[in-house]
Amino acid sequence: MAALAPSLAHGALAGSRSAPDEGAAQAPAFVIVGEGAGDVVARESLLDRAMGPKRRKKSSERLRRGRRPSEGLAFVARDASGAVVGTVRLWDVKLGESGPAGLLLGPLAVEPGLKGGGIGSALMHHAIAEAARLGHGAVLLVGDAPYYGRFGFSAERTGALAMPGPYERHRLLALELKDGALDGAKGTIKAAGRKLKGQAIEFVA
Ligand SMILES: CC(C)(COP(=O)(O)OP(=O)(O)OC[C@H]1O[C@@H](n2cnc3c(N)ncnc32)[C@H](O)[C@@H]1OP(=O)(O)O)[C@@H](O)C(=O)NCCC(=O)NCCS
Repeated sequence: MAALAPSLAHGALAGSRSAPDEGAAQAPAFVIVGEGAGDVVARESLLDRAMGPKRRKKSSERLRRGRRPSEGLAFVARDASGAVVGTVRLWDVKLGESGPAGLLLGPLAVEPGLKGGGIGSALMHHAIAEAARLGHGAVLLVGDAPYYGRFGFSAERTGALAMPGPYERHRLLALELKDGALDGAKGTIKAAGRKLKGQAIEFVA
């Protein structure tokens, strides 16, 4: 069983104009913590605002629907009032029929009015560090290489892999957390996460 992660990171919003106060402890503009059961409604509402209703039609959704995120790998960013202003989750997948295990990252989203403040990067760095700490070998995602490249993701090692539905091949990106973790990874990516039961699907997926 995975260790319970303390899962706390914090940061100041990039470009924040608050004047530094020598000697006084400054409250961070946001914190990153493990997602709690009470965050589901706020997270779903944020995803609708940030990504629109079409988000549920993505191929990645087929690998998430009816499953729980990978143990210890669902995070939210909270502002100083405690409101959810960012979200990222990672999901257990199998990389092809007889391929290795991996993680699928997404969706990643930040409150639209706070874009460009470093919350997305902080969520990514924290999620990657926790995935590595928990012993995972590789993280995949479907997204913009110009953004995710800054965290080490590329399409270099995903050419033999496919999503289970329509997607743009050049946007299937991967990051190895352990050297060789993507060796032998070929074929269609499959869901491998813990299944949700009954009505829980409505609240978590
Ligand atoms: C993508 C997203 C999560 C980034 O979060 P953020 O908090 O704004 O990101 P950060 O502040 O950490 O980083 C901002 C930087 O990323 C760049 N960036 C943001 N989205 C980008 C994209 N799609 N492609 C390339 N660069 C991008 C910004 O130009 C900025 O660049 P700079 O550091 O050189 O100024 C956020 O814009 C968002 O929620 N978008 C809507 C949902 C979405 O598209 N999610 C990703 C699905 S693939």
